[in-house]
Amino acid sequence: MKITINQAPQYTGQEVTIGCWLLQKRGSGKLQFLQLRDGTGFMQGVVVKANDEDLFATAKGLHQETSMYVTGTIKEDERSSFGYEMEVSNIEIIQAAEGYPITPKEHGPEFLLDNRHLWLRSRKQHAVMNIRNQIIKSTHDFYFNNGFKKIDSPILTSSSPEGTTELFHTKYFDEDAYLSQSGQLYAEAAAMAHGKVFTFGPTFRAEKSKTRRHLIEFWMIEPEMAFYNHEDSLVVQEQYVEYLAKNVLENCKLDLEALGRDTTALEKIKAPFPRISYTEAIDLLHEKGFDDIEWGDDFGSPHETEIANSFDKPVFIVNYPKAIKSFYMSTNPEDPRTVLCADLIAPEGYGEIIGGSERISDYDELKERIVESGLNLDAYEWYLDLRKYGSVPHSGFGLGLERAVAWFSGVQHVRETAPFPRLLNRLYP
Ligand code: 4AD
Ligand code: MG
Repeated sequence: MKITINQAPQYTGQEVTIGCWLLQKRGSGKLQFLQLRDGTGFMQGVVVKANDEDLFATAKGLHQETSMYVTGTIKEDERSSFGYEMEVSNIEIIQAAEGYPITPKEHGPEFLLDNRHLWLRSRKQHAVMNIRNQIIKSTHDFYFNNGFKKIDSPILTSSSPEGTTELFHTKYFDEDAYLSQSGQLYAEAAAMAHGKVFTFGPTFRAEKSKTRRHLIEFWMIEPEMAFYNHEDSLVVQEQYVEYLAKNVLENCKLDLEALGRDTTALEKIKAPFPRISYTEAIDLLHEKGFDDIEWGDDFGSPHETEIANSFDKPVFIVNYPKAIKSFYMSTNPEDPRTVLCADLIAPEGYGEIIGGSERISDYDELKERIVESGLNLDAYEWYLDLRKYGSVPHSGFGLGLERAVAWFSGVQHVRETAPFPRLLNRLYP
């Protein structure tokens, strides 16, 4: 019977076969312990010399990442983190690997990234991808269960919602095109057709910043809701993030354990989240001794981290100055220097996880902002049409998938949260 490692509990006491790879091996003159992995899990295989000398010799000669079919009897074992192990009775080698570059010793990040196609197999990287997968699944569950429809926005676009400095240009036959920075503008059009929608796709930013939070290509989840004001949108955001945290905690226990993630921080992610204004955040920073920042400046990571450290939950910073935010954000009627927007800042230094806002719904105001921002009106004619034919108040936001994965996994750098990260100066593999 061919099974997968995660099915082992159902086969206790039975002889089964698993297709797997050798992660690591240790042993003595009498026993060989094979750490096996098959993608669904990890399990130890035990080979006893006294039972079968030939088999023992085969096991002893195996190198890291050799692929094989291993047959044996499943036993419960308290000591293994998985709870089960296999008493091996046969090994059929599929391909004998030799000289696998990623050995159990420490390697530097550049070496590991050069070998990303192999590094993905390691216990920790496997755990991070499992958490990413859980967030992807929970995102679909959350929005579908709450009446949203998924709308796919184009990747080749003629617009630049998040500013013109970080665009990837390409030719679109005779026209100029950009790789999408955000699906938002298209999500707004779709919200006018379907009410509540979300996009979930790759987005691109030619950011020259080499930080642990920036990728050149990242995936973004962008809900957009007709008839929702800014506060209504904040409620969706906190419920969504709480839902993600709850599901990662419930379904990724072994992964969080493999990563050594302190889960007490994740258990605190419960709505509602505190809200402070940009102006209050500036005052708070001044109190904490940050004299370099003035009203009107954007926050850098040290500022965001300091603000986050004043709360034990993620915190919304609302109403940023208009001048440092995108053109489509509604003016705050209580202080027209600011806009109806929020950034959700994660604890523990993970920084901005979500950016969102209420959108300008007035035609003339939006047109003026497009012109003021130096954008080409022709490319936004369709977007302005949304304010001409049944314009309604609407709001939305974008969550960066990789930043959320880094936060929940507790890994320090977003480069470990994408299967094949695109970084400044890295397009390989
Ligand atoms: O704040 P941003 O730029 O907002 C937008 O793109 C809006 N159009 C979203 C919307 O309202 N529909 O990006 C949103 C989120 C950030 O909070 C961050 O989590 C992530 O996307 N993000 C990045 N993640 C990794 N690498 C980068 N270079 C990122 N830039 C933004
Ligand atoms: Mg932002």
